[in-house]
Amino acid sequence: MTRMGIIGSGSIGAGLARLAVAAGHDIMIANSRGPETLAALVSDLGTGAQAGTVDEAARYGDLTILAIPLSAYESLPAEALSGRTVLSTGNYYPSRDGRITVLDSLDLATAEYEATLLPGAEIVKAFNNIVAHHIPSLARPAGAQDRSGMAVSGDSDEATALVSEVVDSFGFDPVDAGPLAESWRVEPESGAYTLSTPPIPSRSTRTSPRTPAHQSPRRGFAS
Ligand SMILES: NC(=O)c1ccc[n+]([C@@H]2O[C@H](COP(=O)([O-])OP(=O)(O)OC[C@H]3O[C@@H](n4cnc5c(N)ncnc54)[C@H](OP(=O)(O)O)[C@@H]3O)[C@@H](O)[C@H]2O)c1
Repeated sequence: MTRMGIIGSGSIGAGLARLAVAAGHDIMIANSRGPETLAALVSDLGTGAQAGTVDEAARYGDLTILAIPLSAYESLPAEALSGRTVLSTGNYYPSRDGRITVLDSLDLATAEYEATLLPGAEIVKAFNNIVAHHIPSLARPAGAQDRSGMAVSGDSDEATALVSEVVDSFGFDPVDAGPLAESWRVEPESGAYTLSTPPIPSRSTRTSPRTPAHQSPRRGFAS
C-alpha cells in the first residue's frame, strides 16, 4: 500500500483516484476550490480516500500525482514538492495553457519544463498519454493478456521505479520510455500519444515515434 496525494480532481485526477483506492492505496485528493467541494467524490471513493488542501496533498504520503492544467503548475507549492516523487500527467495545450516559448520552440519536453517550475521535485511522466475514459476501461489485473502498457519517463531511477510500481498497481504495464528529455514522444502531436489500445508494444514508444513531419528535423529524427 502506498499513500499518495492527488492534486486535481477532474477527469484524470478522479479516474486515477478510483484506481488507487481500488488497488488499496490511501489517497488525499485536492482541487483549486478546497476540500469541502470534494465531499461527494470522497464519499463515492470510499475507505482510503480523503480530501485535503493543495498544500496538504503535496506533502501527503510517498508521492504526489499532478492532474491539473499545465498553466496551474506555477501556482503549486514548489517547496512542499521539493525532494518528492511527482507523477505528472500534464500536457501542453496552448489553447488552454497559453503560449509557452520553450515548448513552442521544442527546446524542452513538457516534463522538462515542469521540472523548471518545481525545482527539487523528481518529475516522472505517466498517464499523460491516455484518454481519460480509457483509464477505467483499460485497467486490467497483472498478467491479463489484454493489459495495456503505460509509458513512464523519468530521470531518477528511484522515482521512476516507485511510479512504475504505482502504474502496475493501477492496472497497466509500466513501459520504460527513457528520461524526461525523451518524453516528447508521448506528448500530444507525437506518434505514440494515446497509443494505448491495443496494448503498447514495449519498444514502440522508443523506436517508432512516427513523429509528425514538421517536428522530425528539429527533434533529430531526420534520416
Ligand atoms: N482529459 C484527458 O483525456 C487527459 C488525458 C491525458 C492527460 N491529460 C492532462 O491531465 C491534466 C488534467 O486534465 P483533466 O482532463 O483531468 O482536467 P480537468 O478535468 O479540467 O480537471 C482539472 C483539475 O485541476 C484542478 N486545478 C486547476 N487549477 C488548479 C490549481 N491551481 N490548484 C489545484 N488544482 C487545480 C481543477 O480544480 P477545480 O475542479 O477546483 O477547478 C480540476 O480538479 C491536464 O494537464 C491534461 O492536459 C488529460
